[in-house]
Amino acid sequence: MRTHYCGQVTESLTGQIVHVCGWVHRRRDHGGVIFIDLRDREGLLQIVFDPDAAEVFAQAERLRSEYVVRISGKVRPRPAGTENANLPTGRIEVLGQQIELLNKAETPPFQLDDDSVGEETRLKYRYVDLRRPLMQQNLRLRHDVIRRIRNYMDAQGFIDVETPILTRATPEGARDYLVPSRTHPGRFFALPQSPQLFKQLLMVGGLDRYYQIARCFRDEDLRADRQPEFTQLDVETSFLTMEQIMAMIEGLVRELFLEVLKVDLGTLPHMSYADAMGRFGSDKPDLRNPLELVEIKDLVADSEFKVFAAPAQDPKCRVTALRVPGGSKISRSEIDAYTALVGQFGARGLAWIKINDKAKGRDGLQSPIVKNLSDAALNGILERTGAQDGDLIFFGADKFKVVCDGLGALRIKLGADLGFTAPGWAALWVVDWPMFEKDDKEDRWVALHHPFTAPKVFDAQAVENDPGGVLSQGYDLVLNGIEIGGGSVRIHRADIQQSVFRLLGISDEEAQEKFGFLLEALRFGAPPHGGIALGLDRLVMLMTGASSIREVIAFPKTQTAHDPLTNAPGTVDTR
Ligand code: AMO
Ligand code: AMP
Repeated sequence: MRTHYCGQVTESLTGQIVHVCGWVHRRRDHGGVIFIDLRDREGLLQIVFDPDAAEVFAQAERLRSEYVVRISGKVRPRPAGTENANLPTGRIEVLGQQIELLNKAETPPFQLDDDSVGEETRLKYRYVDLRRPLMQQNLRLRHDVIRRIRNYMDAQGFIDVETPILTRATPEGARDYLVPSRTHPGRFFALPQSPQLFKQLLMVGGLDRYYQIARCFRDEDLRADRQPEFTQLDVETSFLTMEQIMAMIEGLVRELFLEVLKVDLGTLPHMSYADAMGRFGSDKPDLRNPLELVEIKDLVADSEFKVFAAPAQDPKCRVTALRVPGGSKISRSEIDAYTALVGQFGARGLAWIKINDKAKGRDGLQSPIVKNLSDAALNGILERTGAQDGDLIFFGADKFKVVCDGLGALRIKLGADLGFTAPGWAALWVVDWPMFEKDDKEDRWVALHHPFTAPKVFDAQAVENDPGGVLSQGYDLVLNGIEIGGGSVRIHRADIQQSVFRLLGISDEEAQEKFGFLLEALRFGAPPHGGIALGLDRLVMLMTGASSIREVIAFPKTQTAHDPLTNAPGTVDTR
């Protein structure tokens, strides 16, 4: 039907007849002349209709927004002074000679250039929303990333293998989506939370290097970077060390950024989990933000101030200072808002000190808590945080997790509010994860990664003797404060896998019932293996600059896991 895409009609075609197809983006009537901006996926093209050609002019007059047309006409330069330097087609226009109306459109639910449309409406009319240039760019960048991933993986000898969607529960920590079985009444398939166990079985099967652009399903509370179904670049390899796997994936991510965004991420630093939590209160620190937490337990352990002293004496707690350069300009009401923020994570308060004039000693400090602290403690805090006149120091004193979550979130908020967080990119690996973490509420051990992650040292006895002290061969890839990937070297020995299950409170019977096939496979010559999964939606979200993964998924669900377009989930016939 067409000779060219709208966005590809440029000066080189001057004088030629072109046939173009697309949507009426805008119609303007100017002093007897009609201008149509015709849009297709490659861009906009200006078409002019002259009243001298009465018949086609009358047709042009009847065109409305989003009508679908085929237009034929002659390419000519725009009159001097009317060029549009912002458009690739901005130096020319097409003199319309023929219009074929391919389809009418009702008045669109929103204008494509209206940025104030609610997301519910955008998703309900997603097919209209997808016409917006930004959505088209996002989906094309996603395509470009996937294409390059496939090339890279293929060049590294990876084989793309599909794994089942109707399967058994896989333990990634979320709830499962279940599918009832017709042929086995009362029994259910689960949709995979990831292909984790199948990819391990592929290694036992001798495939050596597997990858898949895999759909995963997790019934969990949704956020801007979480969807109930999402896509991973899923990878598994045999006979490679943790360092080799990480280097291979780092090579991929660097190449993607270089080729797609012309950005060199550099060599990614490795940071231990303990360091990340200690300095940033997060296992996915945004290193573009320079604010850091400083431990002050030793300085306040003997203090009269019980708010600090009690947690300082408790090994499950931390007492931490966060210096905010120039923070003395933060107002009382802003401090109240920050106190409410840390409160959401369970903090019972947010102590602070403003450093007005250090030279004046405690008289130069403004704070609700200085009266409770000794000179020695105050001086120690000022020295350790490096605080200067005009700064503010916030404090968190509580259970380890409460302080990390609260001050970690405060750090991010301050970084944004006060402009500390530099634009650009900061990627890193978080390594040296503990294998297990104590769930205090239920007094049981839980795996920090999944239960198939290998300990640093393959020693079943060490795992049983001191679970809290065992580090794993897990690694997370973090970009700008977002976890874009996670993986590990796996347990390839049945005895160690079984002792990990036992420690996690999974009885031998339960392990047999749920993962018997894996344990069995490990006894039939399983090679050492390991891998990773990258959250493709998150990666593409970051690369496009979008603030939600819904902007890079063609048909996403809302925050309540609902699809306004199809109205899924729906009811079913009882029959
Ligand atoms: P994990 O559970 O860490 O690891 O998932 C890997 C990556 O997938 C992304 N991700 C999500 N993206 C969007 N919506 C979600 N609900 C969601 N959940 C996770 C994250 C995360 O880093 N089988 C292991 C991988 C392995 O060990 O090889 C796994 O799935 O970016
Ligand atoms: P209080 O003695 O409870 O009035 O608290 C004095 C100051 O300490 C107030 O600024 C509180 O916000 C702060 N505060 C209270 N509990 C904590 C805590 N667990 N961590 C940090 N600051 C706290």
